[in-house]
Amino acid sequence: TTDPLVLFMPSGKRGRFPKGTAVLDAARQLGVYVESVCGGRATCGRCQVVVQEGNFAKHGIVSSNDHLSAKGAKEERYERVRGLADGRRLSCSSTIEGDLVIDVPQDTVINAQVVRKAATDRVFERNPAVRLCYVEVDEPDMHKPLGDLDRLKVMLERDWGVKEPAIDAHLLSELQSVIRKGDWGVTAAVHRDEDDPRPTITALWPGLHNEAYGIACDIGSTTIAMHLVSLLSGRVVASAGASNPQIRFGEDLMSRVSYVMMNPDGRQAMTEAVRAALRDLIGKVCADGGVSPDDILDAVFVANPIMHHLFLGIDPTELGQAPFALAVSGAVHLRAQDLDLEINRGARVYLLPCIAGHVGADAAAAALSEGPHRQDSMMLLVDVGTNAEIILGNRHRTVAASSPTGPAFEGAEISSGQRAAPGAIERVRIDPQSLEPRFRIIGSEKWSDEEGFDEEAARLGITGICGSAIIEVVAEMFLSGIISEDGVIDGQLASSSPRILQNGRTFSYLLHDGSPRITVTQNDVRAIQLAKAALYAGIRLLMEKQGIETVDSIRFAGAFGSYIDPKYAMVLGLIPDCDLDEVKAVGNAAGNGALMALLNRTHRREIEGTVHRIEKIETALEPNFQQLFVNAMALPNKVDPFTKLSE
Ligand code: FES
Repeated sequence: TTDPLVLFMPSGKRGRFPKGTAVLDAARQLGVYVESVCGGRATCGRCQVVVQEGNFAKHGIVSSNDHLSAKGAKEERYERVRGLADGRRLSCSSTIEGDLVIDVPQDTVINAQVVRKAATDRVFERNPAVRLCYVEVDEPDMHKPLGDLDRLKVMLERDWGVKEPAIDAHLLSELQSVIRKGDWGVTAAVHRDEDDPRPTITALWPGLHNEAYGIACDIGSTTIAMHLVSLLSGRVVASAGASNPQIRFGEDLMSRVSYVMMNPDGRQAMTEAVRAALRDLIGKVCADGGVSPDDILDAVFVANPIMHHLFLGIDPTELGQAPFALAVSGAVHLRAQDLDLEINRGARVYLLPCIAGHVGADAAAAALSEGPHRQDSMMLLVDVGTNAEIILGNRHRTVAASSPTGPAFEGAEISSGQRAAPGAIERVRIDPQSLEPRFRIIGSEKWSDEEGFDEEAARLGITGICGSAIIEVVAEMFLSGIISEDGVIDGQLASSSPRILQNGRTFSYLLHDGSPRITVTQNDVRAIQLAKAALYAGIRLLMEKQGIETVDSIRFAGAFGSYIDPKYAMVLGLIPDCDLDEVKAVGNAAGNGALMALLNRTHRREIEGTVHRIEKIETALEPNFQQLFVNAMALPNKVDPFTKLSE
């Protein structure tokens, strides 16, 4: 007779085990991550699994609850005291009695925070760098003068396979009292990361300690976003955001670099500002989640290169000029203490690697989240800010570059541009015959030609055009023949349409005749052309490196992508030819990547290896970038056809 077959879901890992094997042990042997703090004593409740019943013909398995041992005394006691949800069992206390399909519940659901589009939920497997390990230490014996720490190590090896751990110095002084306070039971936080396989004890608690948290944080130049996550369940327990207080030193990245160059204590002031903001955010997520900051044992940060350096206390001046030298490009391992973060004293900090001087750890995190390097088809991943970070690749080859798009896409440099806020125009249509516009404003469901719009507009006040509408209005002007392929507003139309206004030698389009009057000027169109030409030329350069004419999919990371309509982006030639169904906004992909690295250290190795292999292209040094840029000034492009659009 053969041993029962056990299949673990969702990983799909399987193996045969003798009857009587604990499900937790089977999981361990197959490398399936099942949490456990108490080490199989049926006291922590972290090892819960569910038996999937049914006939899994294609795996040759008939699985049922009868194939698992009945609840034992320990499990019954746990259920009485703490409760077990329907169908849940403690894998440490249940043994295999027949073929089984075991579901390891994944509470980790990462919610891509797409600003206005439908959110996508994704599930990730866990394997965090920090684990809690409860052990019962032998009492001291005068005949065997082994120290408390050494007896603790014996048990960590016996019960958890933790070999020869190091220990953080600050724990030595409290070790003996902690062990005695727990009546010889102690929970150790064991951190294991990097290529160095030596584990380290980073925290100790008397008795069973059943709480461990981590934070994942994206430090953007405008906003900082933080998640507080249970390392034991994978659940995001609180999320918060704040604006980056460095804004008071300079709106954009380059002005912050200049501030450092001009002011002797500028670097320090900005480092302190961002760390203070992080401490505030930690306080906030802890309060929201009802978590003690002392239970935060691990933290992952992602940021663009300049934010990354300022957070670490590194002068970013070198990043302000060619050759854009990073002080450190690889992943960084530090202690929270080194960065003045007020969390557990032994907590570790991990920063993802930076790809290049202009393409940061945030882009690396977005790549980790979307995974161009994990698939066969060619994916384009773009994060548009004042600098566009562009990654193009598949499992065979990945290239990356950045391109200076400037702030036009965000509504800056546009005469009537404004941030997305109630009253801002967000959608525009122009009738190709009459050239009359219809539009919608944020805060109202109605189009401007619908009944009741005027009252709502009066209440909200029409104030300007937000980023999404700028792309849309220019694209609509192009589609209705108001602007030519060169981007020139056709002045001849002024005689037949009151919407075309003359200002000196150029013309503008009157979008809304109110107060304020909202127009799209020739300069506005130029600003959009320059921004889109920079973005497209960068993308096109990478496509040439890859030797391709079309991409298979496009992912927009960040806020920008979540509010533009891909159709209009393609009408203007902002993005290359691609099936429109394959163009998607993925929200804060950098934040998702940070979460993945927090919850699974194999993802850290994955992105470190990927970043190492990514070919970095410096657009400024590429001889044909200028030509690609000139071609891309035309709408949609002087040479490139956009065949998918007409399909
Ligand atoms: Fe703690 Fe099963 S491992 S209850």
